[in-house]
Formats: sequence, structure tokens, C-alpha cells
Amino acid sequence: MATYKVTVTTGDLPFAGTWDVVSVTLLGSEGQSKRIELSSIGFEFSRGKVKTYTIKNVCSLGTLLLLRVEKHPCFIFPEDKWYCSKIEVTTPEDKTILFPCYRWISRGEPVELRGGRATLFFEDDHQLLTDQRKNELQLRKTVYQWKFNFDGLPHGYDNESKPHAEDHFTESRSTNSFEETLKGMFKSKEKWKSFEAMKCLFGVKKTAMIDYVLENWKEDRFFGYQFLNGVNPNVIKRCSKLPSNFPVTNWMVKPFLARGSFLQTELEIGNMFICDYNILEGIATRVVNEQAMYVASGFCLFYINCDKELVPIAIQLAQNPSNDNPIFLPTDSESDWLLAKMFIKNADYLLHQGVQHLLKTHMLGEVFAMATYRNLPSAHPVYKMLIPHFQRTIHINKNIYDHVFGPAGSLSISSLGAEGIQELMKRGFSELKYSALCLPDNITARGLDTIPNFYYRDDGLKLWGVLNSFVKGMTRYYYLSDGDVAKDPELQEWVKDIFMHGVIGNSFSGFPETLETTDELIKFVTMIIFTVSAQHAAVSNGQFDYHSWIPNCSPLLVQPPPIIKDKSSMDSVVEVLPTVGDTAIFAHAAFSLSYKYNNMVPLGSNPDEQFDEAESRQAQKDLQNDLLFLSEAIRERNSKLQVPYNYLNPPYVENSITI
Ligand code: FE2
Repeated sequence: MATYKVTVTTGDLPFAGTWDVVSVTLLGSEGQSKRIELSSIGFEFSRGKVKTYTIKNVCSLGTLLLLRVEKHPCFIFPEDKWYCSKIEVTTPEDKTILFPCYRWISRGEPVELRGGRATLFFEDDHQLLTDQRKNELQLRKTVYQWKFNFDGLPHGYDNESKPHAEDHFTESRSTNSFEETLKGMFKSKEKWKSFEAMKCLFGVKKTAMIDYVLENWKEDRFFGYQFLNGVNPNVIKRCSKLPSNFPVTNWMVKPFLARGSFLQTELEIGNMFICDYNILEGIATRVVNEQAMYVASGFCLFYINCDKELVPIAIQLAQNPSNDNPIFLPTDSESDWLLAKMFIKNADYLLHQGVQHLLKTHMLGEVFAMATYRNLPSAHPVYKMLIPHFQRTIHINKNIYDHVFGPAGSLSISSLGAEGIQELMKRGFSELKYSALCLPDNITARGLDTIPNFYYRDDGLKLWGVLNSFVKGMTRYYYLSDGDVAKDPELQEWVKDIFMHGVIGNSFSGFPETLETTDELIKFVTMIIFTVSAQHAAVSNGQFDYHSWIPNCSPLLVQPPPIIKDKSSMDSVVEVLPTVGDTAIFAHAAFSLSYKYNNMVPLGSNPDEQFDEAESRQAQKDLQNDLLFLSEAIRERNSKLQVPYNYLNPPYVENSITI
């Protein structure tokens, strides 16, 4: 007869504790214990509690393989779910084995936990282990069912199915006085009378960055800066040849080029860059009072000037050149040039929110989470590596659908409306490329390897490198050869699920349908972690900074774009802005979408212990050190910048998409 010590940790989450009775059964290679009730006087399984039990007189079990955990009613208390974080068992041989749980457990729902080293499918050498693996996935597939939430977009979690057990509850947050002020304005149909009047939006919430945006939003150099280091650094690309439908001439832009230079020369030497909003062309816009709203599906041409600043030098607000589609220049009247820039920013906002933010991070993040839950058992090393990066994502996406891009969401009152945004997302989805999600490939494909003062690229590539190095170390520890990757059926089902439900089997996307080598697996896992942590931070964290001062980037402009030069005035610029109520709704959305919870989990921190083996725990510590080192370098660089770029500074990057 032997003695085991069992240490149970209840999660430190709201409502994690239970009054119920918890029992465990130890399952070994040569036998199993009887069901052992862990004595409770009511507080042992309360929030954040750690409690150790000594279990004597256990018959011989051989190697301890599994732990079955159950929860039963206690007295007359109603059911309260229990969030069990982990259970550690010390064997008679004085070996402590970690059994990660990190899920909610209900009455009458026996949960079998795997302990010890992460294993691949073909490494499990006992029927109990292979059965546990199979049963766990079977159960998960009943909970995580794919649903075609939106026609022509990635599939997602079926919200009608059972609530899922692994996801943490999001801390609720109370609204603050700033939000209350904005909400008090939501119903106002009044028009703004001046930019000065709009400053009342901010009240006590004005930050240093808001002040900077208020001061500089009309400046060309700040306009250009935002296409590299604002919330949408994903559209701009090098321009070595102008599109035939954007007939900018040397005569038009010569005053803005380096002394004596020519347009053709600057195109050839790589100093010209372009944003093309062709993807918006022809999408039906929202109709307000029988008037269709306006979206400029045009072009903006940028130039790197002698001060190494990116500045706009020509704007055309629609795709087809014509007399009523002039090319606006910095030398036009202040109001014409400002209006042209505002319509470009409006187009950029729609593309940012619909495609870069919601589609490419939130929706794909949900796909990656779903495929992982459905296909990788908790003993799988890739599951253990990825699962911290999916916390809260499925949960928050439901809110995002309801409050941002659904029929009642803030985007429903944008220029495109909810239906137009969905059409834009479908178009973006049909063009989605795997390479665009892999930052090194993305930057090279857009010809942005050497453009100066591009901090998103600089910090992003370093972050990609740090994550890639971590994933490489972990992957090569578990997969000893390419053959191990190819013969892992769970991994192959996982990547196939992503291909079928993430890109709907679209081979044009370049997404892998199978993984044949460790290098392919390393790149794929790096892409997933980068997308749901760094890329989401890059497109999300700065929304309050850049989107709350609505003139700088408005989701809606209510007057048509200028079609003839010299007809506008600064009054026209104010008139193009949304009503007071809509402005407050957009500013509130910008605040909400970049909100950080007090208990946010920064990239690389691992409050949930998934790995039992020392090598993997060391790799996680190395990752944290690398991120710390990178953060210090970013802090040092930022100290010399007028506008610090902090969106990819590791302490501000979340481990998963939570907002
Ligand atoms: Fe987000």
C-alpha cells in the first residue's frame, strides 16, 4: 500500500470556487485507486485556494497515468461550477507530476486529466492514454462545433452549442465617467459647429497622445506617419510604377520632390509609396435619409522627403480618372487638400476595421482556437504551446459581432453600414494570403524592407524573430524529424480543419493543407501566435489614440467628396463630419476597442502551467527574457522619438485577443 499527496489549486478567477465535494481517482498502468473524496468544510475549493491532501493505503498502481476528477452535490447548495487550475500529485517515489486542468467542471461530469510530459499521438503506449486522447477530442468536438456565422467569411464557434469549459470568464468592467459623458451624447442629432466644440468629447480623458493628434492631425508628415505607425500599417506598399488609372504627372508633383528630381526617378529609386483602396469600389454604402453615403475608393501617393518623412503628394478619390475626379495636391486650397486626406482616412478606417482588425485577427483567431480545441488533445505539445493564446477570444468575439459589426454595432452607422462592411470583409477574405500573415514575407512583398522610421516593421520583425526562436526550440524538442510531423494524425487534422474552415479550402490563399516538415510547422505556429498577440496589438492598441479625434479618422463622412477644386472652405470640412451623437458613438467604440483589463496577460507570461518538463519551462523563461530585452530596446528607442511607438512593446501586447 502506498501514500500519495494531492495538491489542488482552484483558479483565481471570479466565481471559480465551489461548495461541492471534489473527488479524485488515480489511474495507473497497473491499476486504479478507489474514488477518494477530498475532505471539505466549504473553503478548500474557494477562489485561488491551494490545498494539499495526503492519501494513504492506495493499492499498487504502477506508473501514474491519469487523474479522474469529479464534483458532487454538497448538502442543499445549488450547483456552482468549479474552475480547477491544476492538480499536482506526489507519488510514493517522491516524484511530483503536474496535471494541468484550467477548465470549469460541473457536477456529474468526470474529467480525466493527463499528467507529465507532453506527448505525440504515436508516443502513447498504454490503452488508458490512447483512450483518454480519443475521448477528450470526441467530447470537445461536440462542444466546439463549426458554424457558418457569416456567408463568405471564415467559420466560427456555434454560439448555440454548449458553453465551453476551457475559456476563462472575462472580468466585468464598470463604465467610467468618460464613457458616461459619451453615452449622454449618443442620441444627439446636432451638427458640429467647429472643431473647437468637438474637444468637449474628451473631458478628463485627454491624454498626451490625444493632445498630439489634436495639434497635428492636419499636418502632412503626421498623416503619412500614421500609414506606417498608426493602427493600420497594412495597406501601404512601394510604388515603382503608377497604376494607369492614377495619372499623376511629373509636373503635378515636382514641387514636392527633392530639388532637381523627377517623378520617374523617384519611382525608380524606391522613394514612392502608394495606398490603393480599389477593394472598396462599388460596395453599396449606407443610405441615410434616402441619400447613399460616400466612400472614396481611390489612391494616395506618398513620397519619402529629404527629412526621411513619408508625406502624401497626390490623392485621387475614385478609381477612374475624369474631370470630376481630380488629382488633389498639397498646393491646392487648405480645405480641398484636407478633405481629400479625410476621405482617404475614412476609406482606410473601413479597411482597417473590417479586414485588418476583425477579419484577419479576431475571426482567424477564433478559427485557430476552434481547430486547436477540436483536434489537439491537452497532452499535445502544440496544444500546450497555443492554448494560452486563445483565452477569452471566442467569448469576446460574440461581443464584437453584437456591438461592433453586427446590425446594431458601431460599424452599422459607418459609411458602409453593417452590410457594406460584411461585403468588404468578404472581398478581403477572398484575397487573403498566408504570406500576408507572416510578417517577414508581408514586409518584403510590399517593398517596405528599407523605408525609414517604420517602427511597426522594426518591432514586429524582432517580435516575430523572438516568437519564432521559441517555437523552433519547442517544436524540435518534441518532433525529432520531419517524419514525426508528417505522421502525426492529430496535427494533420488540425491544419486541415484550419484550411477547410479558416480559408474555406481556398488553395489560392497559400494556406497549408498538410504539414510535412518541422520548418513548416514552426512557421505556421509562429504565424498563429504572432497574429493573435502582436498583430492584434498593432491594429488594436492605438485605436483610442488615433480614432477618438474623429476629424483625424472618421468612420463616416456625411457630405460627398470634392469633385471640383476650389469650391470648398473650412466650413465644408466641418460640415462633412458626422453628427454629435454619431461622433460620440465612434469615440466610444475607439475607447472600448482599445481597453485593457486590469488582469490582462502580457505576451509570453504563463500564469497557466501547461508543461511539466523542465526543458519546456526553461524555454518559456528564455522567451520571457528575450521579450524583456526587446522591451528595453524599444523603450530606449522611444525615448528619442517625438511620438513613441509602443503598440508592439511586449508588456503592452496581450497573449490573446480579449477585446
Ligand atoms: Fe480587437
